[in-house]
Amino acid sequence: MNSNEISLVLNGRPCRLREGRDYEAHETLSHVLRERLGLTGVRVSCNAGACGACTVLLNGRSVLSCMMLAVQADGQSVTTIEALDSSDPVARAFAEESGPGYGTAMQCGFCTPGYVLEAKSLLAENPEPTREDIREGLSGHICRCGCYKGIEHAVERAARLCSREGGA
Ligand code: FES
Ligand code: FES
Repeated sequence: MNSNEISLVLNGRPCRLREGRDYEAHETLSHVLRERLGLTGVRVSCNAGACGACTVLLNGRSVLSCMMLAVQADGQSVTTIEALDSSDPVARAFAEESGPGYGTAMQCGFCTPGYVLEAKSLLAENPEPTREDIREGLSGHICRCGCYKGIEHAVERAARLCSREGGA
């Protein structure tokens, strides 16, 4: 890389960021994504690695974006919730599990992007997780609305959809 630039693939598109204009060397990835690039689906709550809200995918695997510098994403692929639409089986599973008759996977929605991206990472590694696997995989996340049961059901639904439609 040019030492004053970061090159990455952001939500499927090549992206070049310039130091001073788009980021500062001390800024976290969550700060740059959210405050500089306007990707507000990246939620920041604790800003200390303890809640999972800021989870994004780095090369398809979940990371806490508040715990890494933006410069550490240089040369890598970063995915935020903004990249997912209703064609994504995991996003759809969470939406379905929050609809009338379910209603428990999401209340305020603050934690949801982090959970959806964590679920994608989990299912990419383990397409048929047990309830225990799901609990363990999501254990770094906090939902202040207490939707934990519904979130587990959403991940189970996502696993079923992914096995029918292919891929997390
Ligand atoms: S905001 Fe990053 S873990 Fe809480
Ligand atoms: S749905 Fe409100 S924090 Fe999880």
